[in-house]
Amino acid sequence: IPVDRFDLVIFGGTGDLARRKILPGLFRRFMAGQMPEGSRIIGAARSELDDQAYRDMAREALEEFIDKDRRPKECVDAFIEQIHYVAIDATGTGGWSELAQTMSSDTVRAFYFSVAPSLFGALAERLHEHNIADSQSRIVVEKPFGRDLETARTLNRTLAQHFDETQIYRIDHYLGKETVQNLMAVRFGNVLFEPLWNSQYVDHIQITVAETVGVGGRGAYYDKSGAMRDMVQNHLMQLLCLIAMEPPSRFDPDAVRDEKLKVIRALEPVAPHDIVRGQYDAFNGAPSYREDVEDPQSLTESFIAMKLHVSNWRWAGTPFYLRTGKKLRARTSEIAVVFKDAPHSIFGQAEKAHRNILTIRLQPNEGMTLGVTIKEPGPGGMRLIDVPLDMSFADALGPEAGEVPDAYERLIMDVIRGNQTLFMRGDEVEAAWAWTDPIIEGWEARGDAPKPYEPGTSGPEDAQILIHREGRRWREIKE
Ligand code: BG6
Repeated sequence: IPVDRFDLVIFGGTGDLARRKILPGLFRRFMAGQMPEGSRIIGAARSELDDQAYRDMAREALEEFIDKDRRPKECVDAFIEQIHYVAIDATGTGGWSELAQTMSSDTVRAFYFSVAPSLFGALAERLHEHNIADSQSRIVVEKPFGRDLETARTLNRTLAQHFDETQIYRIDHYLGKETVQNLMAVRFGNVLFEPLWNSQYVDHIQITVAETVGVGGRGAYYDKSGAMRDMVQNHLMQLLCLIAMEPPSRFDPDAVRDEKLKVIRALEPVAPHDIVRGQYDAFNGAPSYREDVEDPQSLTESFIAMKLHVSNWRWAGTPFYLRTGKKLRARTSEIAVVFKDAPHSIFGQAEKAHRNILTIRLQPNEGMTLGVTIKEPGPGGMRLIDVPLDMSFADALGPEAGEVPDAYERLIMDVIRGNQTLFMRGDEVEAAWAWTDPIIEGWEARGDAPKPYEPGTSGPEDAQILIHREGRRWREIKE
């Protein structure tokens, strides 16, 4: 889909996200021919740099984050030509008239707020004061979008003073992942799955986002958030919505987001015994969580497992088990839909029940596996075994087509195209906090301490008990 000529201003243009994700992502889109002639990227930050110094920084970022054979020098040079810089004081007056003069007319204007949320209001106000933003302009904001319902509401209200909801793009980078979008393609592009996608046929669903990294280096932020705020309220909640929602009538922004919102609103409150929180220990000389965040008493969780119920007609009685954590055995994200046993076995008592499991691997080794039951080969009678119908996207689509673009690339281009489908609406974010808040308040009121777990495992033992006590088991966390 073609994109219009654009000016993208990155507030926080010298920051980590700009270097790691935004600039490399834009470069890849440039290579794909999606940065029309005359489009510009304008870094804006406090540092007193000139265009040249910022271009040097951008070049270094590309060298660091893009493979050498993917960045021919002449292409990098041409891309860099499109980059500019304006030193700006977000809360003061410095730089704003320069920015206003730098913007071209007749282009799509997008403003990426890659800064602390406390600056969102000031930026929105200045953009208006200086007539830099118009009714067609878009702003992009990053998580954390608030730390509870109240702060999220305040942020929404602040942005709404100057921008219409249709101009606000709240990023959850999980929605930019190809395989996450594939959840919708698989569910609604095939006739095969949807008739079975309900509590009559689905025993339970597991969503796992496991990481091997710890919180070292991000301790100050992370310790105030924990896995619940950092991962569950946003990324896991989005995955849950896409798996559980009703089919939208169209793949358009409000139709999709209306359905996601209904899922969040249908979530039942979670009882304390349906949640296990964990915190990683020291291991083999590597620091513990508490050492990483430099707080020997921290009660913040780096792991969480929980059982949820989506209280609606489709899902009544089918639990959803969610789990995410740092320093686990492997980096892997997957969703497993575990179907019920066949209602009757014609093969006799000796045959244990066999279950179909549809596993959608979000990362790495993106693909899908459907476990099916077949006859064990050989003359020994009718014995059944489970085998995988296995599909990796890279194998099925070829190495080039199967190559997964970075989430940010897709999302930034959607901003330029004006498509909000993969961005969170204000009411959606608020609903997610409204569900999260009482859970966190409960921990705080009880002084709930997370269970320690050994790095390189699948989290605390209690997380196993959470699911075992109902005769179910977690999928193994493995590459
Ligand atoms: C971020 C969280 O939003 O997502 C991090 O703040 C987490 O703590 C990251 O590591 C995971 O993203 P990905 O794309 O690596 O799965």
